[in-house]
Amino acid sequence: MILRCSFACLLVMYALPAASGQRTVRQDRYVDITDQRTMLDSAGMRPMFHLLRSWMFNVVGKTGQRKSGSFLQQPIPPEVPFPCDVSLGRSAKVPTNVHKLRPGDINVIAAMGDSLTAATGAAASNFFGLYQENRGLAWSIGGQWDWRNVTTLPNILKVFNPKLVGYSLGDAYPFHSDSQFNLAEIGAVSYDIPHMARALVQRIKRDPRVDWKRDWKLVTIAIGGNDICSFVCTMRYPDQLPAKHRLRMQRTLRYLRDNMPRTFVNLVSVPSVAKVVMLQGKPFACESLHHGECSCWIGKLYNQSEASRARWGRIQEEMIRVEQEVARSAEFRGLDEFAVVYQPWSLNVTMKMNGKDVDYTLLSYDCFHMSQKGNAYAGTALWNNMLEPIGKKSPSWRPLLKNFKCPTKESPYLFTYDNSVNS
Ligand SMILES: *[C@@H]1O[C@H](CO)[C@@H](O)[C@H](O)[C@H]1NC(C)=O
Ligand SMILES: *[C@@H]1O[C@H](CO)[C@@H](O)[C@H](O)[C@H]1NC(C)=O
Ligand SMILES: *[C@@H]1O[C@H](CO)[C@@H](O)[C@H](O)[C@H]1NC(C)=O
Repeated sequence: MILRCSFACLLVMYALPAASGQRTVRQDRYVDITDQRTMLDSAGMRPMFHLLRSWMFNVVGKTGQRKSGSFLQQPIPPEVPFPCDVSLGRSAKVPTNVHKLRPGDINVIAAMGDSLTAATGAAASNFFGLYQENRGLAWSIGGQWDWRNVTTLPNILKVFNPKLVGYSLGDAYPFHSDSQFNLAEIGAVSYDIPHMARALVQRIKRDPRVDWKRDWKLVTIAIGGNDICSFVCTMRYPDQLPAKHRLRMQRTLRYLRDNMPRTFVNLVSVPSVAKVVMLQGKPFACESLHHGECSCWIGKLYNQSEASRARWGRIQEEMIRVEQEVARSAEFRGLDEFAVVYQPWSLNVTMKMNGKDVDYTLLSYDCFHMSQKGNAYAGTALWNNMLEPIGKKSPSWRPLLKNFKCPTKESPYLFTYDNSVNS
């Protein structure tokens, strides 16, 4: 119960708007909790919020520096060479076309999303560790250490291009400089992504290391977990969530297309909520924490039932379909300097690596977020997806270096809908 309250207290910043939201109802266009700004978003609140958060950050300490724990991946030993021929991985001249982009051509990496992208609790070994954001270990944007013991997308890309910038350097909140171009915010929802895109463009543009017009930029977006876990059951018309999600995704991608030259976007769905929170026989701590982290699914607060969970599950599937459709849509095709690709590794991700037992070392202390090891599996899966043609992309992760993809003479480029044979 104490755990539940502590987590609820963290969520208070998001719960308070609920009360005020209910009063601004209009009959036709209903404004849900997640569809608006509130007093808590005002500039005046920010210093207080930062102060509180910084205090927490110091209390918890930099857990991401831990050298031992079951949450860590198996390091890849020094005698194992990097699996790819690095000479094929970077163009001799900076390409001018996004469909001719090799992995090492990427100079700038960035990400947007929620706690999944913040790597919340990736190195947690107790409850307090869940307040730390181990961004340096994050699958899509963490660049702490190197590919041998933190096998993330940036650490793999660094092998092809050591001058890569933008990856998170270590434990950090989004307002710390170590976060770099990781704009993810814990608790963020679909509604926040267009705003996050504007902040991202500002942050990258201002950075003296970036040649704004010339450098190729890679942005990974993964959002929607909080909408489905914590908010869908408070919405008056939950079935409208996918349509709203579509508009927000479109707005975000159009903004990036029109405002950030030379950009490649990975769109990734958040893993199925059902698969994680409905684990049978999960540890007691997880049972309690899931009440706070996924209160639409676990507990009694919203009269949860098999039927209601099935409904939220269908809405999540619909959101996934929306993401796939938006990524493929004509307005983002056939361009020279912009491409977006839906990367499906999270669609059928399994926790049962041996086919029978749940491998809890892939998950954080709360059995909800990913551990460092989980982040490494996810980072490798995303890398593999980028080098798998459309229609042949793997919908799950696999053990590190198993069937690790590399650029080849025949297909040296990151696959897009326009350069994939099967598209
Ligand atoms: C990872 O490797 C770096 C050296 O590249 C080392 O300094 C660090 O301690 C290693 N981390 C762990 C957890 O072993
Ligand atoms: C849960 O069910 C009870 C009894 O049917 C009802 O009074 C209550 O309003 C419901 N709560 C929610 C959040 O739907
Ligand atoms: C999902 O993964 C399971 C094994 O984990 C497999 O049996 C199943 O066929 C997969 N489904 C799809 C659609 O790939």
